[in-house]
Amino acid sequence: MAAHSSNNRIEATLIPGDGIGPEISEAVVSILDALGAPFAWDTRQGGLAGIETSGDPLPAGLLDSVRRTKLALKGPLTTPVGGGFRSVNVRLREEFQLYANLRPAHTLIPGGRFENIDLVIVRENLEGLYVAFEHYIPVGEDPHAVAISSGVNTREGSKRIIRYAFEHAARLGRKKVTVVHKANVLKALTGVFLEAAREVAKEYEGKVEWDDRIVDACAMQLVLNPWQFDVIVTTNLFGDILSDLVAGLVGGLGAAPGANIGEHAAIFEAVHGSAPDIAGKGVANPTALLLASGLMLEHVGRLDLADRLRRSIDAVLNDENVRTRDLGGTASTHEFAQAVIRQAGKA
Ligand code: NAI
Ligand code: MG
Repeated sequence: MAAHSSNNRIEATLIPGDGIGPEISEAVVSILDALGAPFAWDTRQGGLAGIETSGDPLPAGLLDSVRRTKLALKGPLTTPVGGGFRSVNVRLREEFQLYANLRPAHTLIPGGRFENIDLVIVRENLEGLYVAFEHYIPVGEDPHAVAISSGVNTREGSKRIIRYAFEHAARLGRKKVTVVHKANVLKALTGVFLEAAREVAKEYEGKVEWDDRIVDACAMQLVLNPWQFDVIVTTNLFGDILSDLVAGLVGGLGAAPGANIGEHAAIFEAVHGSAPDIAGKGVANPTALLLASGLMLEHVGRLDLADRLRRSIDAVLNDENVRTRDLGGTASTHEFAQAVIRQAGKA
């Protein structure tokens, strides 16, 4: 995760995606250009667009590009139902060993049920119950009488994600890491995660504070007093659930960005899908993909540009009240993007 100097161009793969993907990608790229972001884009088709051009939702050209650039901004991809295609997102995660899923939750528009939320969930992305070693044991006539699933957490995998969370906190000046587990009941599976946390935390003594929570108590605390949390790191399934919970604290998935990060590549995306119902109409909200591009700027060490981007979005939404239809406004994708570009020029 190298920091790059501001005059170096950084090659990055742009996957515009399906549905609203091309519209929101175009808006995001125009804003990043105006901001002076260092990315030089290698544009590659995936999803339905990939099937049309090369018969595969994840064409070799796309994979080769990410292998080379190690950095991608990805629009939503439509995963075709049926036809034997595996989820494109799962394939990408496995292919590039994207072990960390980063989901920040930040209040964008005040006046909701929760104000001033600013926290990050770091979810382990490759292990846990998601390895899905599952089987049934038939009893009598019932082939599904007993269902069995085994989870796998490794010490190395746990240390890697926990170290990622501490590094992220240290780099962004965040104060505290909360390790979330269920080590009181799943003593081996999540106990090893807590053990790993104790080892890694020692390396950050005096730099980043930490504590731990049991997942069910953490869920309640996130609703009662989310402001006590800063960075939360947890295993795959708990992270899946808690990251949607915190998206709910800040108004839903519509403005939620995500990052999938590995040692050799990182892929940034909006959490929402391709929104076929509004595709091609020029009304989609590019904010989630834009915030994802902000995470990408942080990833390459451009905290200055990421900060300017977020302040510009805030000014457009809350000072100018320029909002797309999903947020109750009337702005088109293009009008919203132009407003952010104007603000970025002032910020
Ligand atoms: P969706 O997130 O695409 O849409 C749900 C609702 O939210 C729709 O009414 C849509 O118009 C609205 N919406 C979503 N993003 C919006 C935006 N930026 N601005 C304004 N409104 C927005 O979820 P859905 O309909 O379940 O999935 C559609 C397709 O997307 C499916 O093929 C699914 O597989 C794919 N998908 C891809 C993801 C990815 O690539 N990471 C993630 C989720 C779904
Ligand atoms: Mg989920």
